[in-house]
Amino acid sequence: AQRKQIDKVLALFRLTREQLVDVQAKMRAELEYGLKKKSHGLATVRMLPTYVCGLPDGTEKGKFLALDLGGTNFRVLLVKIRSGRRSVRMYNKIFAIPLEIMQGTGEELFDHIVQCIADFLDYMGLKGASLPLGFTFSFPCRQMSIDKGTLIGWTKGFKATDCEGEDVVDMLREAIKRRNEFDLDIVAVVNDTVGTMMTCGYEDPNCEIGLIAGTGSNMCYMEDMRNIEMVEGDEGKMCINTEWGGFGDNGCIDDIRTRYDTEVDEGSLNPGKQRYEKMTSGMYLGEIVRQILIDLTKQGLLFRGQISERLRTRGIFETKFLSQIESDRLALLQVRTILQQLGLDSTCEDSIVVKEVCGAVSRRAAQLCGAGLAAVVEKRREDQGLEHLRITVGVDGTLYKLHPHFSRILQETVKELAPRCDVTFMLSEDGSGKGAALITAVAKRLQQAQK
Ligand code: BG6
Ligand code: GLC
Repeated sequence: AQRKQIDKVLALFRLTREQLVDVQAKMRAELEYGLKKKSHGLATVRMLPTYVCGLPDGTEKGKFLALDLGGTNFRVLLVKIRSGRRSVRMYNKIFAIPLEIMQGTGEELFDHIVQCIADFLDYMGLKGASLPLGFTFSFPCRQMSIDKGTLIGWTKGFKATDCEGEDVVDMLREAIKRRNEFDLDIVAVVNDTVGTMMTCGYEDPNCEIGLIAGTGSNMCYMEDMRNIEMVEGDEGKMCINTEWGGFGDNGCIDDIRTRYDTEVDEGSLNPGKQRYEKMTSGMYLGEIVRQILIDLTKQGLLFRGQISERLRTRGIFETKFLSQIESDRLALLQVRTILQQLGLDSTCEDSIVVKEVCGAVSRRAAQLCGAGLAAVVEKRREDQGLEHLRITVGVDGTLYKLHPHFSRILQETVKELAPRCDVTFMLSEDGSGKGAALITAVAKRLQQAQK
């Protein structure tokens, strides 16, 4: 009887092929809608123009600074690009962003960022050098040019005040002015998906999609200018930051959301928003698992029916724990040890159930992400009138990199749902800092050509 109850919960997370095909079709419709003028301000998949119009061509060169804000780590980087041989050298430093700064005032956040840049310049012996800077800022921004980006709204774990509706490049410039210690030439603001696509595009010109499966979930791709109604001109292509994390915010995938998803959403910093992201990314998968475990415990099916303080604590299951728990190399005894480390006392049976719960949640995440990706590759294939499309996806993110099954299930799903597309997945090696530097190099070149 107990087994039946557990199976009933797990079944909520099993998606049929029809359901996945339906998600794919709905994502496709949202991608198309977001490109239309009439959707401005209404689209849940925002389809933001990035003003990045091509991949690097190998002639880029110079020394650049890059910032990488919004993933697990905040990084400041120095990137040296040599033309011709396509070689890039990077030096970087990771800085912590304390919770009270992520959720404090905008001024404090940007002052902190500039403090970190100052430390980095000191550390590298670069004080006084005024280098061009590329800012990877992994949040939705409305751009009117490559060096302007108005923050539409925070996502993931950020909630600093007085930033929404403001230009993040201006905020950075002002913080640099306030410090009055060095000068920087901020040339580009870039989403992490775009940086990732660029990093991979430097090696593989077929890379026209960037995917992040990490703390958050998002995708960008090269779209034909003639399909982008918000931007003048019909020639060539432009990269679109889809912000697909907001897919479902209009209720269109409510049929597959469970009560656990609702609870995770309600307990988050941005209730009602980023519903697809909350079903597919690292910041939330552990929370879904925790909600299920609480429910099973309430039903007396786990942890001897005792809900411990730990289990009540938000955020205990980070991606790295889920990844460890689901590793096939791990014996159940080791799963129990991990749960022990998390402060959860489990029996052997408990550990089996926990592992099954993690598996169900991460499998659904990978399939949903795969359905989204299938939608975009099929769109590109049809738009170009091709029987067959070959395309490379540049990917980054801890969920993709660390989880033992996520990437495989994602790839299988894309194959199944987009059989006429031959999709190669390319891991982004050095994060999106390199991509931001490449974009900065291209922008700088164009700037100088205009002068
Ligand atoms: C990093 C990129 O490697 O991956 C970041 O440099 C990106 O720009 C991040 O945001 C995404 O992964 P996660 O798991 O750190 O959110
Ligand atoms: C969130 C952000 C998006 C970013 C993604 C991955 O969805 O809104 O801009 O690309 O996380 O970091």
